[in-house]
Amino acid sequence: MRLEVYKNYDEVSLRAANIIASQVIVNPKSVLGLATGSSPIGTYNILVQRCQAGQLDFSQVRSVNLDEYKGLGIESDQSYVWFMHHHLFDKINIKAENIHLPNGKAQDFHEEAKNYDALIDSLGGTDIQLLGIGHNGHIGFNEPSEEFIAPTHVVDLQESTIEANKRFFTSIDEVPKQAITMGMHGIMTSKKILLIATGKAKADAVRKTLNGSVTPKVPASILQLHRDVTILVDQELADNL
Ligand code: GLP
Repeated sequence: MRLEVYKNYDEVSLRAANIIASQVIVNPKSVLGLATGSSPIGTYNILVQRCQAGQLDFSQVRSVNLDEYKGLGIESDQSYVWFMHHHLFDKINIKAENIHLPNGKAQDFHEEAKNYDALIDSLGGTDIQLLGIGHNGHIGFNEPSEEFIAPTHVVDLQESTIEANKRFFTSIDEVPKQAITMGMHGIMTSKKILLIATGKAKADAVRKTLNGSVTPKVPASILQLHRDVTILVDQELADNL
Protein backbone atom coordinates (compact mmCIF):
# COMPACT_ATOMS: atom_id res chain seq x y z
CA MET A 1 0.00 0.00 0.00
CA ARG A 2 1.23 3.46 -0.85
CA LEU A 3 0.64 6.32 1.59
CA GLU A 4 0.73 9.84 0.18
CA VAL A 5 0.58 12.86 2.48
CA TYR A 6 -0.72 16.24 1.32
CA LYS A 7 -0.99 19.56 3.11
CA ASN A 8 -4.75 19.64 3.53
CA TYR A 9 -8.14 18.39 2.32
CA ASP A 10 -8.01 20.51 -0.85
CA GLU A 11 -4.68 19.03 -1.89
CA VAL A 12 -5.85 15.49 -1.14
CA SER A 13 -8.92 16.20 -3.29
CA LEU A 14 -6.77 17.56 -6.11
CA ARG A 15 -4.57 14.47 -6.10
CA ALA A 16 -7.58 12.12 -6.05
CA ALA A 17 -9.23 14.07 -8.88
CA ASN A 18 -6.01 13.93 -10.92
CA ILE A 19 -5.83 10.15 -10.53
CA ILE A 20 -9.47 9.64 -11.51
CA ALA A 21 -9.19 12.12 -14.38
CA SER A 22 -6.13 10.28 -15.71
CA GLN A 23 -8.03 7.01 -15.53
CA VAL A 24 -10.89 8.48 -17.59
CA ILE A 25 -8.52 10.07 -20.12
CA VAL A 26 -6.56 6.85 -20.61
CA ASN A 27 -9.73 4.76 -20.86
CA PRO A 28 -12.86 6.79 -21.70
CA LYS A 29 -14.98 3.67 -21.02
CA SER A 30 -13.65 3.28 -17.48
CA VAL A 31 -15.77 1.74 -14.77
CA LEU A 32 -15.50 4.01 -11.74
CA GLY A 33 -16.31 2.70 -8.28
CA LEU A 34 -17.63 5.73 -6.40
CA ALA A 35 -18.14 6.63 -2.76
CA THR A 36 -20.22 9.05 -0.72
CA GLY A 37 -19.54 10.90 2.53
CA SER A 38 -17.78 14.22 3.01
CA SER A 39 -14.34 12.89 2.00
CA PRO A 40 -14.94 12.69 -1.79
CA ILE A 41 -16.90 15.96 -2.19
CA GLY A 42 -13.77 18.02 -2.97
CA THR A 43 -12.69 15.42 -5.52
CA TYR A 44 -16.09 15.49 -7.21
CA ASN A 45 -16.05 19.31 -7.33
CA ILE A 46 -12.77 19.25 -9.26
CA LEU A 47 -14.02 16.58 -11.67
CA VAL A 48 -17.15 18.66 -12.29
CA GLN A 49 -15.08 21.79 -13.02
CA ARG A 50 -12.88 19.90 -15.48
CA CYS A 51 -15.84 18.32 -17.24
CA GLN A 52 -17.61 21.69 -17.51
CA ALA A 53 -14.40 23.22 -18.87
CA GLY A 54 -14.39 20.58 -21.60
CA GLN A 55 -11.26 18.88 -20.25
CA LEU A 56 -12.92 15.63 -19.21
CA ASP A 57 -15.50 13.51 -20.96
CA PHE A 58 -17.70 11.13 -18.97
CA SER A 59 -19.97 10.22 -21.89
CA GLN A 60 -18.76 6.62 -22.00
CA VAL A 61 -17.86 6.19 -18.33
CA ARG A 62 -19.78 3.66 -16.26
CA SER A 63 -20.14 4.10 -12.50
CA VAL A 64 -20.88 1.72 -9.67
CA ASN A 65 -21.47 3.09 -6.17
CA LEU A 66 -20.59 1.38 -2.95
CA ASP A 67 -23.73 1.60 -0.90
CA GLU A 68 -27.14 3.03 -0.03
CA TYR A 69 -29.29 3.37 3.07
CA LYS A 70 -32.06 0.83 3.25
CA GLY A 71 -35.39 2.57 2.73
CA LEU A 72 -34.05 5.76 1.12
CA GLY A 73 -34.39 6.74 -2.54
CA ILE A 74 -33.70 9.78 -4.69
CA GLU A 75 -36.65 11.70 -3.20
CA SER A 76 -34.71 11.88 0.05
CA ASP A 77 -31.78 14.30 0.15
CA GLN A 78 -30.02 12.05 2.66
CA SER A 79 -29.94 9.14 0.24
CA TYR A 80 -26.69 8.31 -1.46
CA VAL A 81 -28.35 8.34 -4.88
CA TRP A 82 -29.40 11.97 -4.22
CA PHE A 83 -25.89 12.79 -2.99
CA MET A 84 -24.29 11.40 -6.14
CA HIS A 85 -26.67 13.26 -8.45
CA HIS A 86 -26.25 16.49 -6.51
CA HIS A 87 -22.45 16.42 -6.22
CA LEU A 88 -21.51 14.74 -9.48
CA PHE A 89 -23.86 13.06 -11.92
CA ASP A 90 -26.17 16.01 -12.66
CA LYS A 91 -23.15 18.24 -13.34
CA ILE A 92 -21.18 16.03 -15.71
CA ASN A 93 -22.02 14.34 -19.01
CA ILE A 94 -22.34 10.78 -17.70
CA LYS A 95 -25.28 8.93 -19.23
CA ALA A 96 -28.13 8.00 -16.88
CA GLU A 97 -28.07 4.39 -18.06
CA ASN A 98 -24.40 4.10 -17.07
CA ILE A 99 -25.01 5.07 -13.42
CA HIS A 100 -25.43 2.26 -10.89
CA LEU A 101 -26.16 2.31 -7.17
CA PRO A 102 -27.71 -0.36 -4.98
CA ASN A 103 -31.45 0.35 -4.74
CA GLY A 104 -32.32 1.28 -1.15
CA LYS A 105 -36.00 0.79 -1.92
CA ALA A 106 -35.74 -2.66 -3.46
CA GLN A 107 -38.68 -5.00 -2.84
CA ASP A 108 -36.35 -7.94 -2.40
CA PHE A 109 -32.90 -7.13 -1.02
CA HIS A 110 -31.60 -10.64 -1.54
CA GLU A 111 -32.37 -10.31 -5.25
CA GLU A 112 -31.03 -6.73 -5.35
CA ALA A 113 -27.71 -7.82 -3.81
CA LYS A 114 -27.37 -10.77 -6.19
CA ASN A 115 -28.11 -8.58 -9.21
CA TYR A 116 -25.70 -5.89 -8.05
CA ASP A 117 -22.81 -8.36 -7.87
CA ALA A 118 -23.78 -9.78 -11.27
CA LEU A 119 -23.72 -6.24 -12.65
CA ILE A 120 -20.26 -5.53 -11.18
CA ASP A 121 -18.94 -8.78 -12.62
CA SER A 122 -20.56 -8.12 -16.01
CA LEU A 123 -18.68 -4.80 -16.16
CA GLY A 124 -15.45 -6.69 -15.46
CA GLY A 125 -15.13 -5.12 -12.01
CA THR A 126 -14.23 -1.49 -11.48
CA ASP A 127 -11.08 0.06 -12.93
CA ILE A 128 -10.66 2.27 -9.90
CA GLN A 129 -12.51 2.21 -6.59
CA LEU A 130 -12.67 5.40 -4.56
CA LEU A 131 -13.10 4.83 -0.83
CA GLY A 132 -13.54 6.87 2.30
CA ILE A 133 -13.16 5.22 5.70
CA GLY A 134 -15.29 5.18 8.83
CA HIS A 135 -13.81 5.82 12.27
CA ASN A 136 -14.23 2.12 13.00
CA GLY A 137 -12.41 1.17 9.79
CA HIS A 138 -15.50 0.48 7.71
CA ILE A 139 -15.34 0.81 3.93
CA GLY A 140 -18.56 1.22 2.01
CA PHE A 141 -20.85 0.05 4.80
CA ASN A 142 -18.81 -3.07 5.54
CA GLU A 143 -18.92 -2.78 9.31
CA PRO A 144 -16.52 -4.54 11.71
CA SER A 145 -17.68 -8.13 12.10
CA GLU A 146 -16.54 -11.67 12.73
CA GLU A 147 -15.76 -12.36 9.10
CA PHE A 148 -15.22 -10.48 5.85
CA ILE A 149 -18.40 -10.59 3.77
CA ALA A 150 -17.74 -10.98 0.06
CA PRO A 151 -21.11 -10.39 -1.65
CA THR A 152 -23.23 -7.27 -1.67
CA HIS A 153 -25.35 -7.52 1.47
CA VAL A 154 -27.66 -5.79 3.91
CA VAL A 155 -25.89 -4.65 7.05
CA ASP A 156 -26.97 -3.41 10.48
CA LEU A 157 -25.17 -0.13 11.03
CA GLN A 158 -23.16 0.20 14.20
CA GLU A 159 -24.03 2.85 16.79
CA SER A 160 -20.77 4.68 16.04
CA THR A 161 -21.63 4.83 12.32
CA ILE A 162 -25.15 6.08 13.02
CA GLU A 163 -23.64 8.67 15.38
CA ALA A 164 -21.06 9.79 12.77
CA ASN A 165 -23.64 10.02 9.99
CA LYS A 166 -26.35 11.82 12.00
CA ARG A 167 -24.84 15.17 10.89
CA PHE A 168 -26.56 14.64 7.53
CA PHE A 169 -30.00 14.17 9.15
CA THR A 170 -32.19 16.47 11.24
CA SER A 171 -32.15 14.01 14.14
CA ILE A 172 -30.39 10.76 15.00
CA ASP A 173 -33.75 8.95 14.92
CA GLU A 174 -33.95 9.62 11.19
CA VAL A 175 -30.68 7.83 10.39
CA PRO A 176 -31.56 4.45 8.85
CA LYS A 177 -30.41 1.50 10.93
CA GLN A 178 -29.56 -0.62 7.93
CA ALA A 179 -27.88 -0.21 4.57
CA ILE A 180 -27.07 -2.27 1.49
CA THR A 181 -23.39 -2.32 0.64
CA MET A 182 -21.04 -3.74 -1.92
CA GLY A 183 -19.07 -6.44 -0.14
CA MET A 184 -15.39 -7.24 -0.24
CA HIS A 185 -15.65 -9.06 -3.57
CA GLY A 186 -16.79 -5.93 -5.40
CA ILE A 187 -14.21 -3.76 -3.66
CA MET A 188 -11.24 -6.09 -3.87
CA THR A 189 -11.76 -7.01 -7.53
CA SER A 190 -11.21 -3.37 -8.46
CA LYS A 191 -8.00 -2.93 -10.44
CA LYS A 192 -6.92 0.07 -8.40
CA ILE A 193 -8.08 1.35 -5.03
CA LEU A 194 -7.86 4.95 -3.87
CA LEU A 195 -8.72 5.68 -0.25
CA ILE A 196 -9.00 9.25 1.00
CA ALA A 197 -8.99 10.24 4.66
CA THR A 198 -8.36 13.53 6.39
CA GLY A 199 -8.31 14.83 9.95
CA LYS A 200 -6.93 13.33 13.11
CA ALA A 201 -10.16 11.51 13.99
CA LYS A 202 -9.46 9.08 11.13
CA ALA A 203 -5.81 8.47 12.12
CA ASP A 204 -6.51 5.40 14.24
CA ALA A 205 -8.51 3.71 11.47
CA VAL A 206 -5.83 4.50 8.88
CA ARG A 207 -3.03 3.25 11.13
CA LYS A 208 -4.80 -0.07 11.66
CA THR A 209 -5.49 -0.28 7.91
CA LEU A 210 -1.83 0.21 7.09
CA ASN A 211 -0.07 -1.65 9.87
CA GLY A 212 -2.58 -3.69 11.86
CA SER A 213 -3.49 -7.33 11.40
CA VAL A 214 -5.77 -8.18 8.53
CA THR A 215 -9.00 -8.70 10.42
CA PRO A 216 -12.73 -8.25 9.75
CA LYS A 217 -12.80 -6.25 12.99
CA VAL A 218 -11.06 -3.52 10.94
CA PRO A 219 -12.69 -4.02 7.53
CA ALA A 220 -10.28 -1.70 5.66
CA SER A 221 -7.35 -3.89 6.76
CA ILE A 222 -8.30 -6.28 3.94
CA LEU A 223 -6.79 -3.69 1.58
CA GLN A 224 -3.36 -5.00 2.62
CA LEU A 225 -4.15 -7.99 0.40
CA HIS A 226 -4.73 -5.85 -2.71
CA ARG A 227 -1.80 -5.12 -4.96
CA ASP A 228 -2.63 -1.53 -5.95
CA VAL A 229 -3.89 0.62 -3.09
CA THR A 230 -3.09 4.30 -2.65
CA ILE A 231 -4.09 6.03 0.56
CA LEU A 232 -4.21 9.82 0.40
CA VAL A 233 -4.17 11.66 3.74
CA ASP A 234 -3.63 15.19 4.95
CA GLN A 235 -0.77 16.31 7.16
CA GLU A 236 -3.00 16.47 10.24
CA LEU A 237 -3.88 12.79 9.90
CA ALA A 238 -0.28 11.84 9.13
CA ASP A 239 0.94 13.69 12.25
CA ASN A 240 -1.32 11.45 14.33
CA LEU A 241 -0.42 8.12 12.78
C1 GLP B 1 -20.28 6.43 5.34
C2 GLP B 1 -20.11 5.79 3.98
C3 GLP B 1 -18.67 5.46 3.69
C4 GLP B 1 -17.79 6.64 4.01
C5 GLP B 1 -17.90 6.96 5.47
C6 GLP B 1 -17.02 8.09 5.91
O1 GLP B 1 -20.44 5.51 6.36
N1 GLP B 1 -20.91 4.61 3.84
O2 GLP B 1 -18.53 5.07 2.33
O3 GLP B 1 -16.45 6.34 3.68
O4 GLP B 1 -19.26 7.33 5.72
O5 GLP B 1 -17.62 9.31 5.60
P1 GLP B 1 -16.91 10.71 5.66
O6 GLP B 1 -16.08 10.82 4.45
O7 GLP B 1 -18.06 11.69 5.65
O8 GLP B 1 -16.13 10.76 6.92
